[in-house]
Amino acid sequence: MADGQRGIASEAKGAEQPAEKPVLTAATLEAEAASQACGPLTDAFFQISPEIVALFPRFQFPVDLYRLNDAAQSLCRIYEAGRRLEQSSRSRLLDLCGQGLLFVSRGQREIYGSYLTGQLDFVLQDSNLSPRDAAQSLYRSLSARLVAFMARPEAATFAPLASDLDICLICLERDSSLVREFICTVHDKSLPQSKDLNAGLIALAILSTYSGGRLPGPEIAPAALGFLIHDVGMCRIPRFIVNKPTGLALSDRQRIRTHPQLALDIVKELKLDDPRLTAPILEHHERLDGSGYPKGLKAEAISILGRICAVGDAYAAMISDRPHAQGRRPIQAAAELVRDCRHFDRTASTALLSLLQDVTC
Ligand SMILES: [Fe+2]
Repeated sequence: MADGQRGIASEAKGAEQPAEKPVLTAATLEAEAASQACGPLTDAFFQISPEIVALFPRFQFPVDLYRLNDAAQSLCRIYEAGRRLEQSSRSRLLDLCGQGLLFVSRGQREIYGSYLTGQLDFVLQDSNLSPRDAAQSLYRSLSARLVAFMARPEAATFAPLASDLDICLICLERDSSLVREFICTVHDKSLPQSKDLNAGLIALAILSTYSGGRLPGPEIAPAALGFLIHDVGMCRIPRFIVNKPTGLALSDRQRIRTHPQLALDIVKELKLDDPRLTAPILEHHERLDGSGYPKGLKAEAISILGRICAVGDAYAAMISDRPHAQGRRPIQAAAELVRDCRHFDRTASTALLSLLQDVTC
């Protein structure tokens, strides 16, 4: 990185603002920008869309903004995060943004991404987002939607989850490389990790390998939903059982074993009965040798979607940190699943291992 670039990149990290700085007018915005350090335009910055700026607080933007000098291909900071704007300076920034001249540091992409959470249609429109940025925005939003649905599984929380998942599937259909970016989000501790979402995304990634690396369009939506909400029945198991710090009594284990059926009751209440959605829910604890539950199904009696979800669910549990032990490393966990072909489908677990060996996060 060139010295000038390092200069403006490091400025981007310090977003705190002293409250006493005066409100920026269009004139002071330009005057202050003239005294700022500049650096070359590199991949450390990305162009910001007017639609995203419109989501920011009206007179106080949350990220530093850099103006492109097209002739010199350099960037100079024109706005410091948190500075108060008035109408003229805001209009000036929106005008520059409309001309495609405003950029944001990738160092602040977490703040930027937080404005996309719950507004995922902008991810579809924003061609400036890298696949990794898009996957992280999708992950954050899906994670929040899934937490809300698991806490209160009803139509009001289901609709936004299904809507975000649709956007996720459209993105995957457009760019199959996103599958690998999603695998990276599953292992990214800086994101609001959700075991249920991780299991669902891993199952979705495995399913993509069954059709040559591409998800076959919108018809995959019921299966993807089933993967995501496979454990929703756990919300009807009392917390004092789920959170027991020591070993569970036989009666506790029997109660927990009812969660696939409880989940089926919930999705029926939501008028969801597509077998592609219910199979992962009902069968993710079935095991090939018949030792699983709730029905003790064996081998081919378990659907492909159920077997894939079993691998996704087990993998997400294996890589999760627990109070008494750290989660297993990704390749180690997948290799264990491949070896355990008495319980888990070898095609599905081998596909997961290959995917993990192929990603660079
Ligand atoms: Fe489960």
